[in-house]
Amino acid sequence: MNADLPKHREVRSFVRREGRITQGQRRALQEQLPQREWPTGTPLPLAVTGRRAPLTLEIGAGDGENIAAVAAARPAEDFIACEVHGPGVGHLLLRAETFGLTNLWVAQRDVNELLAGLPNAALSSVYLFFPDPWPKKRHQKRRIFQADLLNALARTLARHGCVFVATDCADYARWMLEQIAAAPGWYNLAGAGLCAPRLRRREVTKFERKALREGRSIFDFVLALR
Ligand SMILES: C[S@@+](CC[C@H](N)C(=O)[O-])C[C@H]1O[C@@H](n2cnc3c(N)ncnc32)[C@H](O)[C@@H]1O
Repeated sequence: MNADLPKHREVRSFVRREGRITQGQRRALQEQLPQREWPTGTPLPLAVTGRRAPLTLEIGAGDGENIAAVAAARPAEDFIACEVHGPGVGHLLLRAETFGLTNLWVAQRDVNELLAGLPNAALSSVYLFFPDPWPKKRHQKRRIFQADLLNALARTLARHGCVFVATDCADYARWMLEQIAAAPGWYNLAGAGLCAPRLRRREVTKFERKALREGRSIFDFVLALR
């Protein structure tokens, strides 16, 4: 046996898939990504953004429907969109270009790697909207919302910061409530076992539109550190 091989395969919350990419998305990835890429390592946000401003991270930002709209509406704040899917990142970069955003950075990597490279208390808010539900029992270990992520967020979220979550999967919502209850240091702002009202500034994304069309309920949560 090769001693250099890792003993356990890392369980990821996503499957690498290329998907169809448009010419515009490809161009945006080539031209825009180098200018907007959040650097790896542990850069102080100030060294990247050039100013002291609240910094919000969206995990699994998809096509950027939410983060680009929020960044456009709040030019005095800074944003990082984290997304692994190439066409999604391309789409997100096109939106950033169309809106002329100067306050949005992109991290095209696993959010666990991004968080490991951020300094303590760097983030003022975190969004996690419609994470992949991994509904089959044997796949649930892939769910992104679990102890490792909550531990990494507990270190990187600033005092009085919040994590905003939404899902259209009732089973995932129950799982989230269990994870919050079991996570040291976190509490559910709406009260144990309860959903929060819909976040007013959350854009309706294609995942939410599909869920609503198909008659599913949406569950919102807001978590804070004790
Ligand atoms: C169901 S989609 C939702 C996208 C978006 N939030 C929305 O509502 O349109 C979930 C996204 O999370 C991304 N994702 C999953 N695991 C991730 C990880 N560990 N790091 C970064 N992105 C991830 C996937 O590539 C996918 O685009």
